[in-house]
Parts: sequence; C-alpha cells; structure tokens
Amino acid sequence: MESTTLSRIGLAGLAVMGQNLALNIAEKGFPISVYNRTISKVDETLDRAHTEGQLPVTGHYTPRDFVLSIQRPRSVIILVKAGAPVDQTIAALTAHMEPGDTIIDGGNEWYENTERRIVEANNKGLLYLGMGVSGGEEGARNGPSLMPGGSYQAYDNIKDIVAKVAAQVEDGPCVTYIGEGGSGNFVKMVHNGIEYGDMQLISEAYDVLKNVGGLSNSELAEIFDEWNRGELESFLIEITADIFKVKDEHGEGELVDKILDKTGMKGTGKWTVQQAAELSVAAPTIAASLDCRYLSGLKDERVAAATALAAAGLKDEVRSVVNGIDKKRLIDDVRQALYASKICSYAQGMNLRARLPANLVQAQRDLFGAHTYERVDHTGAFHTEWTKLARKNG
Ligand SMILES: *[C@@H]1O[C@H](CO)[C@@H](O)[C@H](O)[C@H]1NC(C)=O
Repeated sequence: MESTTLSRIGLAGLAVMGQNLALNIAEKGFPISVYNRTISKVDETLDRAHTEGQLPVTGHYTPRDFVLSIQRPRSVIILVKAGAPVDQTIAALTAHMEPGDTIIDGGNEWYENTERRIVEANNKGLLYLGMGVSGGEEGARNGPSLMPGGSYQAYDNIKDIVAKVAAQVEDGPCVTYIGEGGSGNFVKMVHNGIEYGDMQLISEAYDVLKNVGGLSNSELAEIFDEWNRGELESFLIEITADIFKVKDEHGEGELVDKILDKTGMKGTGKWTVQQAAELSVAAPTIAASLDCRYLSGLKDERVAAATALAAAGLKDEVRSVVNGIDKKRLIDDVRQALYASKICSYAQGMNLRARLPANLVQAQRDLFGAHTYERVDHTGAFHTEWTKLARKNG
C-alpha cells in the first residue's frame, strides 16, 4: 500500500519480538514502516496493528519500498537471527539507504560482529547501532530495557523514540546510550549471563526448599511471593511464584512437576563465559549455571544412574533429612543464601562490563593519537594502524 506521509522509523524482521516492538513504537505515536520478506509476516503485523488500536503501521513487501517509506535520516531496526541473516538483511536494505541513515541491530549479536558492521556501514556513510533488547516478547510490546551502543549520532536520532518505548521506572526510562562500538551488545550479553546465573540460583533454592524442606508447590508460591516483597524483589522471583501456582491442565497437580528437567539455551550465556575466560575475569556463578545446563542435558544418564543406585540399595539421603528439619529456619537461610549469591553473581558480571569501555577508549586513543595500548594476552605497548586496517577489511 502506498502512503503519502513518510514513517518516522522502520523495522525489518517480523517474528514475534519484531512485531511486538513495532507495535510498541507505533502505540507511542511514532508512525512505523514494517518489512519481512515473508509476506504473511507483514500482513500478520498489519492485522495486529489494526486490532490492537488502529496503530500507525504501514506494511511493505520489498526492501526498496520499505526503505523509501521512511523519513530521512532513516533509522531502520532489524530483528533477525544473529549471524549471517543480519548480514543478508543489511545487504538488502543498505542497497537503498543513503549517507546519514542508520541500521539498528536489535538482536543478540556477538559484539565483534557489530564492530565489523559498524566499519562496513561507515564506509558507505551509514551509521550503526547494536542495541540489546531485554524483556522478551512481553517486554518488547509493553516496555523493554534497551541497550544501544555504537554511533552517538544514530542514538541521538532515535532518542525520543527509545525513551518512550522503553520500560518506564521510577528513575526514568530503561534506556541509555551505552557507548561506542559493540558495547550495547556486550552489555546485553553480560546481562543475559547474569540472568543465567540468577535462574540457576533460584532453581537451586527451589531444590533445597522442595527436597530438603519438603515444601509443596503452594508453599513455594507463597514463599516466593513473600520474597518478592523484600530485597529479592525482581521479575524472576515474581514469575517463579506464578509458575508454582499453575495447575496441569492434562492431569493432577501443578504443571511445574511435569516439565522435563532439560534446559535449553541460545548462546549468550556461553559467550559471557567465553569472554570472561578471554579477559581473565572470574565468573564462577555464570560458568556454573552454564555447566548445569549442559548437565541437565544428560537426562538418560541420570535416570540410568538412579536405577542402578536404587538397585544397589543406596537410599535417597535427602529424604531422611526432611523429617527433622526446622522449616522456618531453612526458608530464611535459603533466602539469605540466594541474596548473597545474587550479589556475588552481579559483581562477576560487572567485572566484565567494567572492562569493555576501557578497551574501546584505549583503541580510540591509539587510533587518534597513537597513544598505544596494552593487550590482555601479551605484555608490552602496542600500536595499530586502525583506520588503514579497518578500511582494508571493509
Ligand atoms: C521474515 O520472516 C522469516 C520467517 O518468519 C524469517 O526467517 C526472516 O528472517 C524474516 N526477516 C526478514 C528480514 O525477512
């Protein structure tokens, strides 16, 4: 459909996250163009825009129509799978973009890919942002936490949009310019790593309360609700309380007990641990949570071992402890242990975050002023012809 007025911003990649973020932007009063090479995705988004309040969304079916429907300097958010699909989408869109326009990658991208793309974009006169988007599908629709990094000019172009679209909390919107280069993706990666740790800590607290304390799901729900009113207050504690309340619609009891104890993962936790090792930063909580996800994959081995141990006459030690337990004391101990572990885990994550801006600053200083820099893997002072190499790679 042709529209006479241009959109303020565009979004390409209309899986659920992309659709939700586009609708959120439109709802905040910013006309938005959307594109996906699968036509049905565009139509689906337009249908939702219509039913969710006649939101100002226009659909486009070719990269060219899409790009040309956006007012200059154009800002285009892409939300596609990290890696090669990002490069393909950038290639399709930038063919029609002009100097001063911006690509904003909202996916969970490896920060070095973003740094490479920044250079490639700059060579075409384009600006680039790698923007972490946190909060899942629900956050994307109603208020995500946004972590934009890269070109400050590009951030400035969309500052009013992201300030309205982000989650609103007491001290303002959940968005700030993170820094140069891939820092937005880096911060999002570490944030995900911390979340891996948090989820593992909560599940271990659950394990102790359930198997040592003998607590039922309804007692667990009550305790997590109570914890969510104290210093542990957080999204993860809140949703955990909710999870314990959900009945199994296909049988007796609660759904949580019917879920297979195998954890999936997408990669950012692994990246955080790899990066920690690379930078010689200890991140044992995040690393342990990753190990636990690997271990959880060994379900068949666990079942076989349990059978063999039972056949050998070994009793479940934990069960015999349950009887003599002081429940109230145990619950309080677990609460405090969880709090302490969380603080340690966050500190580990911050040790990673604290480092990145410094290395970028060093690189910039070396680029402009040949101030030299030190490396994490070799001693001594180093200098690089950054611009020459960057242009060559681009
Ligand atoms: C469009 O939709 C498909 C299927 O949902 C997806 O795989 C693809 O990455 C999307 N993005 C773009 C930019 O076409």
